[in-house]
Amino acid sequence: MQEDKVFNLTGKVALITGGASGIGAATARRLAQAGASVIIADLNEPAANTLARELSGAKGVAMDVTSTASIAAVLQPLSRLDILVNNAGIGLVGTIAQTEETDFTRLMTVNATSVYLVTKAALSLLLAVRGSIVNIASVAGLIGVKQRFAYCASKGAVIAMTRQLAVEYPKELRVNCIAPGTVQSPFVEGYLQKHHAHEIDKMRVELAARQPIGRLGTPEEIAATVHYICSPEADFMTGSVVTIDGGWSAA
Ligand SMILES: NC(=O)c1ccc[n+]([C@@H]2O[C@H](COP(=O)([O-])OP(=O)(O)OC[C@H]3O[C@@H](n4cnc5c(N)ncnc54)[C@H](O)[C@@H]3O)[C@@H](O)[C@H]2O)c1
Repeated sequence: MQEDKVFNLTGKVALITGGASGIGAATARRLAQAGASVIIADLNEPAANTLARELSGAKGVAMDVTSTASIAAVLQPLSRLDILVNNAGIGLVGTIAQTEETDFTRLMTVNATSVYLVTKAALSLLLAVRGSIVNIASVAGLIGVKQRFAYCASKGAVIAMTRQLAVEYPKELRVNCIAPGTVQSPFVEGYLQKHHAHEIDKMRVELAARQPIGRLGTPEEIAATVHYICSPEADFMTGSVVTIDGGWSAA
């Protein structure tokens, strides 16, 4: 196989939720470089458009993954979709005792219900081409992380939906999931500013030490795995939960 034909996504249409920042943005860049036409769907439409202008064949669209109407406005006009990356997500710090019901519901809606809503809206397009779904969960869906009650619950649901869909549509779709450890992104920077503004450097060291490899991951490292999972080379892969966490969940 020619080097430039490996992991080739030419002719594929990919939709990435939360594609304007962090892991989603790195994924948009990576899939576009591999030849896909990328739709960058994000609450932050200006940022989605700015990124799309940098990439060949990309476009930015406004999408709130918690709104059926907003999702339909993006998906209904599409005539083809090969790759769906359910990446949009938010964090919440707190034990069960500290988690208000409204915050729990918000986390579940943005991180988990959104996967149901977007996947359902995209299903017929994906079934038409034996498409590939990549859900971005978290190590927090596999192991208990202190102070992340709602976040762990929401990401556990993402992993469960991945496995259920893979079993429901074993020949009609490929459905896989990535469980990243802590990755250097605006998500983590926002957490540090909100909860540890007076001790950011100390917390950076602690976050890095939590992962046996001794550092945070990069969005590009997660994007490279999304790319592989979507590629023809991963044709045998469905129902997988791929941890990329510097050894965190192995410890
Ligand atoms: N950064 C990490 O350490 C880490 C680790 C494990 C998993 N994750 C997961 O990876 C995904 C991406 O995280 P990131 O670190 O790149 O975050 P980020 O904050 O950099 O980007 C998230 C993007 O999602 C968008 N978004 C938020 N709510 C939305 C909504 N309702 N509709 C549409 N778009 C919405 C935001 O506008 C933003 O562009 C999330 O699901 C997160 O839970 C992140």
